[in-house]
Amino acid sequence: MAESMKGLKRTHRCGELSASQAGQTVTIMGWVQKNRNKGGLVFVDVRDRSGVIQVVFEEGKADAALLEKAAKLRAEYVVAITGRVEMRSGAVNENLATGEIEIIPESLRILSESETPPFPIEENSKTKEEVRLKYRYLDLRRPDLQRNLRMKSHVMTLTRQFFAGEGFLEVETPMLGKTTPEGARDYLVPSRVHPGCFYGLPQSPQLYKQLLMCSGMDRYIQIARCFRDEDLRADRQPEFTQIDMELSFVDVDDVIEVNERYLKRLFQEVLGIEVKLPIQRMTWQEAMDRFGSDKPDLRFGMELTDVSDVVKDCGFGVFTGALENGGSVRGINAKGQGGMPRKKIDKLTAFVKDYGAKGLAYIAIQEDGSVKSSFAKFLSEEQMSALVKAMDGEPGDLLLFAADKNKVVWDSLGALRVELAKQLELLDKNEYRFVWITEFPLLEWSEEQGRFVAMHHPFTMPMEEDLAFIDSDPGKVRAKAYDIVLNGNEIGGGSVRIHQNDIQEKMFEVLGFTREQAYSQFGFLLDAFKYGVPPHAGLAYGLDRLVMLMAGEDSIRDVIAFPKVKDASCLMTEAPTPADEKQLEELGLSVRVKEGM
Ligand code: AMO
Ligand code: AMP
Repeated sequence: MAESMKGLKRTHRCGELSASQAGQTVTIMGWVQKNRNKGGLVFVDVRDRSGVIQVVFEEGKADAALLEKAAKLRAEYVVAITGRVEMRSGAVNENLATGEIEIIPESLRILSESETPPFPIEENSKTKEEVRLKYRYLDLRRPDLQRNLRMKSHVMTLTRQFFAGEGFLEVETPMLGKTTPEGARDYLVPSRVHPGCFYGLPQSPQLYKQLLMCSGMDRYIQIARCFRDEDLRADRQPEFTQIDMELSFVDVDDVIEVNERYLKRLFQEVLGIEVKLPIQRMTWQEAMDRFGSDKPDLRFGMELTDVSDVVKDCGFGVFTGALENGGSVRGINAKGQGGMPRKKIDKLTAFVKDYGAKGLAYIAIQEDGSVKSSFAKFLSEEQMSALVKAMDGEPGDLLLFAADKNKVVWDSLGALRVELAKQLELLDKNEYRFVWITEFPLLEWSEEQGRFVAMHHPFTMPMEEDLAFIDSDPGKVRAKAYDIVLNGNEIGGGSVRIHQNDIQEKMFEVLGFTREQAYSQFGFLLDAFKYGVPPHAGLAYGLDRLVMLMAGEDSIRDVIAFPKVKDASCLMTEAPTPADEKQLEELGLSVRVKEGM
């Protein structure tokens, strides 16, 4: 039967105890981690958020009833124990922060019993994630997840402190907003008062924060929940948190400057790591050319080389065909991998096909300098050696090539580069390489929609020097947009915004919006801009991604208390669930699920 804690007050958390409390009587409360009964001697490990402490019930020191009660304890019982802290009589446990001491108990209360948990509560659990997510409240008792959530809390506290100190105001923006079809898919919330109408949950506070600049807030920050109905991956969740900010009367360098100081302070205080300032900057074009990615991982080399010029006259149709179609041929040099078995190369070929590549051509340079290659027969000896030279190929190297439209070549080799680095264990988890990616293209051609779409969003300012060709060659216009990238992950992004009506109208025109369409979606913003708008710019970090990297985790789920799984459901609550008839009735909705959905 559960006892009450009446008359008892916790004096310490388990992990706070140390040799300096030796001789003191303390009261701890927590969960039984482990109970070892050696007959006449019962060792009980008690755990709370701060750590674990050993309690020793010993015949002769503790009375018989107490010993008997201790012997009944099982894993995850909640207990309150009062006793004296003593230096350990047995061996010191080096693996435990409190390993020098133990508690010799005077009293034990069982505050709550526990059924046998579906999996043991321990660090580095081997239990399948689905099971852990179903019992997330138990999973969250594990020290690794507790550490992650503690780190996230620390990051949020520091973030608020830092930006408050820089004159930012924290302003809340609505969750129930207007649905806009631009960007990712919205989550819709039906309105009861306006049957047939829906709110959209915010994909980001973007428009509101621009309006706050119009309102003269000058500098805004919010730790904001965002919702995007997109396909999930390890670094994406349907609801996630942004550290969202906007500043008035600034340009690119001002946003970057304050954020570099923020990142330096954050990494210093949370991880004890020095971030060297200024953080490196790289244009989008350079990032694509060298790394095939706008979020390059700079912890290792294996850069892309454009060999289009070297192979333009060779007899290999795959290469020349791609060039004739306006594409390119590029390669990477996997140093020392010339002996890679054919089967493994085939696996890499299958890997790049997921990124749209039609194949992966290779040259394996043997130790004697001869080559094995999937396309040697199409090249003269001179052409082959020119290609090897262009790739800095040396005996023992493996050269891998993709030929296609630039986007396909970049995507596939960019991903292959990272995949190889993983396989070859070139990635150091303790190294943090930041880079700002700048000068993104303003627009991106959407095959699906048959029009240009905004690469960042429709309010991003074009670079002044490119405005001249916004009509003649819109795809060439660069934007005043920037991303902050850490170890191959986009942890944040932002831009300078358009604050001039004529440029905004031009932008809508290029995006294929009529004036009416632009007004029906964004009229409130366009109207606001008529009444005096300061030049402004901003940025948003993905808080979960940032903390994931700081905690050294591979999945964003490990830093979110109650995450969703791949199909956007919650295994614990089983959300989403069908709505009750009565709820639907009130909303004036009837539901018909299309077959095959
Ligand atoms: P953006 O769309 O780049 O910019 O988002 C900013 C950052 O949010 C994170 N992020 C996500 N994290 C987890 N799950 C997701 N589904 C997800 N989607 C995005 C990323 C990303 O860098 N309003 C603009 C910012 C601005 O211009 O100020 C915006 O939302 O780390
Ligand atoms: P094939 O001519 O299809 O037998 O291909 C010969 C070699 O070229 C194989 O190693 C293919 O994987 C490779 N290959 C095919 N298409 C491409 C491409 N678009 N880019 C690079 N290599 C390719």
